[in-house]
Amino acid sequence: MLEETKEYYRQRAAQYSDWANRTGNYEGGSEPDESWFSEARTVIEALEAARLDGDVLEVACGTGIWTDVLVKNANSVTALDSSQEMIERSKARLKANPKVRFVLADFYGWLPDMAYDAVTFSFWISHVPSWKLDEFASKVSKCLKPEGRVFFVDQRREAMKYETLDRPGGEVATRTLDDGRQFKVVKHFYSSEEIGECFMRSGIRVRVMNTPTHFFYASGQKLPEALPSSAQDDHRR
Ligand SMILES: C[S@@+](CC[C@H](N)C(=O)[O-])C[C@H]1O[C@@H](n2cnc3c(N)ncnc32)[C@H](O)[C@@H]1O
Repeated sequence: MLEETKEYYRQRAAQYSDWANRTGNYEGGSEPDESWFSEARTVIEALEAARLDGDVLEVACGTGIWTDVLVKNANSVTALDSSQEMIERSKARLKANPKVRFVLADFYGWLPDMAYDAVTFSFWISHVPSWKLDEFASKVSKCLKPEGRVFFVDQRREAMKYETLDRPGGEVATRTLDDGRQFKVVKHFYSSEEIGECFMRSGIRVRVMNTPTHFFYASGQKLPEALPSSAQDDHRR
């Protein structure tokens, strides 16, 4: 399923919606309504307000919509994606910005070559299957310097109704490209609680916020040192 998810995005890169410029195709075929674009702007503004500075790692950068925002405050952005096709589109958007280093890699197998001041990922965590969520959070933590920051965004659980899931509440969705080809992709709609608890287990405290209908965004910080077990207990209560 992880391989098929990667392949789906390789094949989808050419028709990926560029909602920053209002071009491209959307899941389901039609453009979302104005509330979607307005709330997407809210999330972009939240990322801008977070002012992620220093060396930033962007996991699953896609076509670079968010990279374009990150370069405003970061000293450097390592933009990682498993799809060469996505990276090519991002390169075209970023216009050889010297702050950006592109890395073609599968994040799960990638070995970071430095510690980062911040790690960010947009519309990615829902593609992490539940059996890999702790591994993912732990890897994010390992990529961060002590007190390094995280910021991420994805769809709220309410968006589940737009997906063709293999079973209600499951984490496998069927996606169809313009040419009719179908792919099974990982799509898990995590609750705020699941996200908060999972990152806390890896020593990252996050605060999750919702836009009115469509998205959640989370910002947080790696704790300075290993979290004492009493603090973990506090969080679970
Ligand atoms: C929903 S897109 C999000 C792209 C971008 N962050 C955005 O918001 O437009 C998911 C991205 O994850 C990438 N991806 C999928 N599996 C991956 C993996 N195992 N490692 C790294 N990137 C992966 C895909 O190529 C795709 O660009």
